[in-house]
Amino acid sequence: MVVMTKTWLITGTSSGFGRTLTEQLLERGDRVAATLRTPARLDELAARYDDQLWVRALDVTDTEQVREVVDAAFAELGRIDVVISNAGNGVLGTAEELTDAHIDNTIATNLTASIQLARAVVPYLRGQGGGRIQQLSSMGGLMSFPGFSLYHATKWGIEGFYDAFASEVEPFGIHTTLIEPGMIRTPFFAAAVREPHNPAYANNPTIRRTDIPLDQMPGDPAKVAAAMIRIAELDKPPRRQLLGSDAYRLVHDALTQRLNDVEAQHAVALTTDYDDFHPAALSAR
Ligand SMILES: NC(=O)c1ccc[n+]([C@@H]2O[C@H](COP(=O)([O-])OP(=O)(O)OC[C@H]3O[C@@H](n4cnc5c(N)ncnc54)[C@H](OP(=O)(O)O)[C@@H]3O)[C@@H](O)[C@H]2O)c1
Repeated sequence: MVVMTKTWLITGTSSGFGRTLTEQLLERGDRVAATLRTPARLDELAARYDDQLWVRALDVTDTEQVREVVDAAFAELGRIDVVISNAGNGVLGTAEELTDAHIDNTIATNLTASIQLARAVVPYLRGQGGGRIQQLSSMGGLMSFPGFSLYHATKWGIEGFYDAFASEVEPFGIHTTLIEPGMIRTPFFAAAVREPHNPAYANNPTIRRTDIPLDQMPGDPAKVAAAMIRIAELDKPPRRQLLGSDAYRLVHDALTQRLNDVEAQHAVALTTDYDDFHPAALSAR
């Protein structure tokens, strides 16, 4: 049996999912174009894996650099089978507590950069007849915790982008998957910024203030990376994939509640159409 190795392009490979995924892919013989802000953090892997690992400095908030690195990766490596848009960060704080700088940085990192990476790779994937893109979203792209609104804005935002983008690119053989993990034991929460508390919010018990200790989070990053590899190998990968028992339960509850809310709005929703508009016209489009 001939085992076909694949080439992957990954952002944010210094730690967490990006790093674990890079290690698993190299271990099984695939080629990885690993991008990160501090390339020296991959020196040890680069020494061990030689030509199998292509490393470039990339701060994903620099759109010009995103385009240059994507251009160089396709020019030097030829075909790239799977693109993993993984780099991201989090800020804990109520809307009022957030600083302007943290709002700009988190939107730039989690949302704008993800959109720009997708735009940069599509012409190449289309030109080579297809490929896969996995975008790290979160269970927090479909539900929310008060006190984490900025993060949710970016993950709900990228969910909306990919929801439409998937249909634009599927005719080119490009399959996209939003990866939606629950709480996974990576350095993510340790790296997250915590804004100083405004005492006005002290008595609101819904606001997420206390961190769940890492060893009480359900998700294993090695299993997340392995699941992402399996999903990338499917003939028709799903457009979304929840990962983790917490992700399944919390998203299931949130979407059930939303569907119940939609049903409750039915009668009022129908009051604003023109009297001569027939709802059947919508499905005819
Ligand atoms: N862990 C979880 O529970 C969880 C759950 C759902 C979704 N996610 C998502 O999973 C993704 C990866 O997170 P993780 O859990 O693996 O956490 P992590 O270990 O903190 O990894 C985040 C990665 O993003 C990189 N990064 C941040 N800003 C960057 C920038 N401007 N340019 C390039 N790279 C940048 C970091 O690089 P530096 O080392 O340079 O900072 C790091 O490599 C994120 O999108 C996160 O939202 C995580």
